Amino acid sequence: MISDKVYLDYAASTPVDSRVIDAMLPYFDQHFGNPSSTHFYGQKAEAAIENARETIARALNCNPYEVVFTSCGSESDNLALRGAAWASRQERGADHILISPVEHHAVSHTAQQLADLFEFELEYLPIDEFGMVRPDTVAELLRPSTAIVSVIHANNEIGTLNPIAEIGTVCQEKGVPFHSDSVQGAAHLPVDVQELNVDLLAIGAHKFYGPKGVGALYVREDIKLQPSQTGGSQELGRRAGTQNTPYIVGMGEAFRLVQAEHNQRHDQALAMRIRIIGHVLEEIPDVVLTGHPSERLSNHASFAFKDVDGNNLLMLLDVEGFACSSGSACKTGNPEPSGVLTALGLSPDWGLGSLRVTVGKDTTPLEVDKFLEVLPLAIEKVRKINHR
Ligand SMILES: Cc1ncc(COP(=O)(O)O)c(C=O)c1O
Repeated sequence: MISDKVYLDYAASTPVDSRVIDAMLPYFDQHFGNPSSTHFYGQKAEAAIENARETIARALNCNPYEVVFTSCGSESDNLALRGAAWASRQERGADHILISPVEHHAVSHTAQQLADLFEFELEYLPIDEFGMVRPDTVAELLRPSTAIVSVIHANNEIGTLNPIAEIGTVCQEKGVPFHSDSVQGAAHLPVDVQELNVDLLAIGAHKFYGPKGVGALYVREDIKLQPSQTGGSQELGRRAGTQNTPYIVGMGEAFRLVQAEHNQRHDQALAMRIRIIGHVLEEIPDVVLTGHPSERLSNHASFAFKDVDGNNLLMLLDVEGFACSSGSACKTGNPEPSGVLTALGLSPDWGLGSLRVTVGKDTTPLEVDKFLEVLPLAIEKVRKINHR
């Protein structure tokens, strides 16, 4: 890390763990073969991929052949939605898609495209004031013609956790495939797919100290999936393309580490998150916590400040040496509050002043203290600029 900067944006990405880099390195030059080749070089690469698949399957409590490697969390979401929607239509004429209004764009834009170009009917589940989906509302809106239901495990913008296991039970009872985007969740929570009752679950390595550009999708054995990327028969025909051996090895090792070190990382992050939320709500006027106060990611604090331009705030914090993020959609021009904050019912004078602070395994309490010293002054300054 750069020593005079404080990184508080671990929900955006994490540094690659040095143990992960060590595991990856031999697969760039020594064991570089194409995993589909029959010779020694191919066998070495294939063995490494299958080893990573087994590690991930063990952590997810599923069979290795139920893990499909992809190029990122977004691709996993795309494959889940498009693959299951197309297969459900082909199998039983299902044409209804049910998602929450607080999904990551990787889910929401894919669902919208299925509606716009493929004539699926897209319906949104209601949420409460914390952005949480209630299982009984899923039961009410499910239809025999529902092709796929998708509900985010842990929200990237507001940190709220959804009752995935209960929603999964509702879907299972009706025989409708259920997908959960766990790109944030898997970085902080145990993700046993049997306990979560999911049919499809997306993860992405760069949220848990693995490399960017690699992800995985859990696909329950009996779930039919049409590939959205066609070509070779890699990944049992579910995702064509030569696998990225070093990155897959890296994801396997990173996922093993995040599960093994879960308790320690969780407790450390939680103490800092509690301190951040408590301090901000106490010290700064006209602020609300966005997302659930307790049912939220252990490392995630998110706020909306009234009459604050979120982008100005981020720039000011950056100048002061703090890297955070905002929920507002644009960096320039005419900004609008994010879809997630709008779905929560925040008006623009609050929604444009969003701030997300996410700590990681390398964050220290001292860094948090420094940040909490600077933030109230930064808010004051930005409010003054706003009123000019
Ligand atoms: C909840 C969620 N889903 C999907 C994604 C996309 O993952 P990737 O960056 O690996 O494409 C992200 C990334 O921020 C995310 O937070």
